[in-house]
Amino acid sequence: MAYGDQPTLTAGDVQIPLLGFGTWQLEPEDARRMVAEALRIGYRHIDTAKIYNNEEAVGQGIRDSGVNRDDIFLTTKIWVEDFANGDLQRAAQGSVERLGFTPDLLLLHWPKVQPSFEETLEALNDARAQGLTRDIGLSNFPSKEFRQAQDLSESRLLTNQVEYHPYLKLTPLLETAKALGSSITAWSPLAQGKIADDAAISEIARAHGKTNGQVTLRWLIQQNVIAIPRTTKEGRARENFDIFDFELSNEEVARIHGLARPDGRLGDWIDPAFQWDDVAA
Ligand SMILES: NC(=O)c1ccc[n+]([C@@H]2O[C@H](COP(=O)([O-])OP(=O)(O)OC[C@H]3O[C@@H](n4cnc5c(N)ncnc54)[C@H](OP(=O)(O)O)[C@@H]3O)[C@@H](O)[C@H]2O)c1
Repeated sequence: MAYGDQPTLTAGDVQIPLLGFGTWQLEPEDARRMVAEALRIGYRHIDTAKIYNNEEAVGQGIRDSGVNRDDIFLTTKIWVEDFANGDLQRAAQGSVERLGFTPDLLLLHWPKVQPSFEETLEALNDARAQGLTRDIGLSNFPSKEFRQAQDLSESRLLTNQVEYHPYLKLTPLLETAKALGSSITAWSPLAQGKIADDAAISEIARAHGKTNGQVTLRWLIQQNVIAIPRTTKEGRARENFDIFDFELSNEEVARIHGLARPDGRLGDWIDPAFQWDDVAA
């Protein structure tokens, strides 16, 4: 892998570009066009999932871009209906076929009670052993289940992809990821566009001659959190990539942390058997 001078984090011995490009809700034609454009702009990390119904288009976008596959970090996810041993490996094979590439990272999309974590983690490790992904990880796992899953996994779980933006506090989960030698990837890093109207973020943005989106993404990567913003617009993809030439002060970082609020969560689709970390702790 060669990501040039782009900032990366290292989980285990794997380097992951801190800024990626998300593709949820992108129709296939937008996914193909925007993945190719993002790669031409300089993004080297692409996020998709079977449930987004755009893996084939994402693969085409990668081929259209002309960027060497080895210089791209590609993530996809196993949907919850495919968590049983056997189903999971078949689903992973399906993703490889649709993408036309072996992903770098294969995630369990949401935690699920049945089948057991033991069965699903064994199947996920087996998918890796079969060469259906380079590495494995999780998405939407609270700290308790994150630890349980790592205990059951032979391979390191490289990341836990969860909702994270200025309106959410994530301290306990960030600490869990660190303790496990894993990482956090922030989904909805721009709070699905809501940061654009935030007065406090606007003030910080003005001070740096940057936009609200750029300040928010910078706030995430300065925490060593991976951010995967999505856009249908080439101009915004360019804007969101232009975050490597300024730095937020500790005071500015703390001020943005202060925007977290109890109702800040945008996508609470977790099985009621599981509970998000208590952030008051
Ligand atoms: N693992 C999971 O369960 C999970 C769940 C949700 C998302 N994800 C991943 O995370 C990625 C990002 O999350 P997301 O798509 O929910 O939301 P997001 O990236 O926080 O926000 C995307 C929205 O913000 C707008 N936007 C983009 N850049 C902007 C900017 N600089 N200023 C203002 N608005 C901007 C986009 O509109 P335009 O298109 O008009 O620019 C779009 O409506 C997804 O695409 C997906 O890959 C994962």
